[in-house]
Amino acid sequence: MNKKDDSKMEKIVSLCKRRGFIFPGSEIYGGLANSYDYGPRGVEIKNNIKNLWWKYFVQSRDDMTGLDGGILMSPKIWEASGHAEKFKDPLVECKKCHHRFRPDKLADASKCPDCGGEFTKEKFFSGMFKTTIGPVAEEGLVSYLRPETAQTIFVNYKNVLDSMNKKMPFGIGQMGKAFRNEITTGNFIFRTLEFEQMEIEYFISPTSDWNGIFENWVDYMRGFMKIIGLDEQKMHNHEIPDEERAFYSKRTIDMEYDFPFGQDELWAIAYRTDHDLSNHQKHSGQDLRYFDQQTSEKYIPRVIEPTFGTDRTVLAVISEAYCEEDAPTADGKTETRVVLKFDKKVAPVKIAVLPLSKKDELSGVAKNIAGTLRQNWMVEYDETQSIGKRYRRQDEIGTPYCVTVDFESLEDKAVTVRDRDTMRQERVAITELPGYFNNKFTY
Ligand code: GAP
Repeated sequence: MNKKDDSKMEKIVSLCKRRGFIFPGSEIYGGLANSYDYGPRGVEIKNNIKNLWWKYFVQSRDDMTGLDGGILMSPKIWEASGHAEKFKDPLVECKKCHHRFRPDKLADASKCPDCGGEFTKEKFFSGMFKTTIGPVAEEGLVSYLRPETAQTIFVNYKNVLDSMNKKMPFGIGQMGKAFRNEITTGNFIFRTLEFEQMEIEYFISPTSDWNGIFENWVDYMRGFMKIIGLDEQKMHNHEIPDEERAFYSKRTIDMEYDFPFGQDELWAIAYRTDHDLSNHQKHSGQDLRYFDQQTSEKYIPRVIEPTFGTDRTVLAVISEAYCEEDAPTADGKTETRVVLKFDKKVAPVKIAVLPLSKKDELSGVAKNIAGTLRQNWMVEYDETQSIGKRYRRQDEIGTPYCVTVDFESLEDKAVTVRDRDTMRQERVAITELPGYFNNKFTY
């Protein structure tokens, strides 16, 4: 397990705001607690992770297909799934400072950790956000913002089966927003009220070796770490004991990552049995059984669910990439450089184009280069401040390559390409830049 490093967390939160990754939500109105917005560079990282996830878990597998379902669904779905009754957390409130806590998450639940005050009696509190459909609230249909994306997959399972000719085993992958009225929030984007999930429901026959398939998925999920640049040593499989598992699960492993604030759940995998499909069949009155053409049997499939929090994955990727190291300055001294050593695939900006001077003769050439490279990669053009400061800025956002256009470029029609990690520089002909970067970004 890693050491708790609060100062690293503070530095990451500050860098994320300063460099346009993640902003506090509703900030100009004083903020909305535990809500965040992704800035221009944050959205790039998030999209890169989502695209890589889709490619690895959906596109590249013959047994997988995709879906993009709605956030609002019939409230009957939440009755059937058990969320209306069971998706609740215990809550206590301090009688003195009125702060609220989940007693099961406190080291000492006998008194308030903030002021030592006495707690009220434990109550249960729904984790789902209620909303009303229709123009008049009193007459409207009460529904909920989905607390997990999974149910959209379950209620569409038959549609997918019928339209896609899928045979068991097969899975449906989906990414999208989920909402939870969390009592205990915090640790930046780790636990928020609104977040994104990337989920898979993998349907198998009741007679198959569910434990073997479950274990294969755990390994396959770990394979995604390498793709997005996470160190496998920092992931720990935590088998959840019977009494702590969600109401729908027969086996759960939380895949816990060494975040700067400590080891905590990044992803998870659960064996949901036939819980969801059997309950939807019962409540909807629709036949959700699968017809096995080989055995002529009909059955409700069992389900294995690998699930990923997108925002937690973004946080893990940034934490892993964050690095402070000594670097030489132009005048021969040493300074500390902050560098985000992202895997190139997740880096928000791939190439920065930097003219040595703002003069038209250089900026014109640099803008043309940026325009060409932009057709294939996310490019930033920057001509403000000294070249040293611009390199540091690009290091701080994790740009793998900087292209510098200098006065010599006007003569030799070449530029200097600087590597983020080694800081080594090499001269490359302008006409060869697209081919040069094609070789660097081979994915
Ligand atoms: N469908 C199963 C399910 O929702 P979960 O363990 O409750 O299982 C799945 O959530 C993943 O969603 C977690 O592993 C985590 O990455 C992410 N997640 C859950 N609650 C979150 C929150 N409040 N904020 C950010 N991410 C959250």
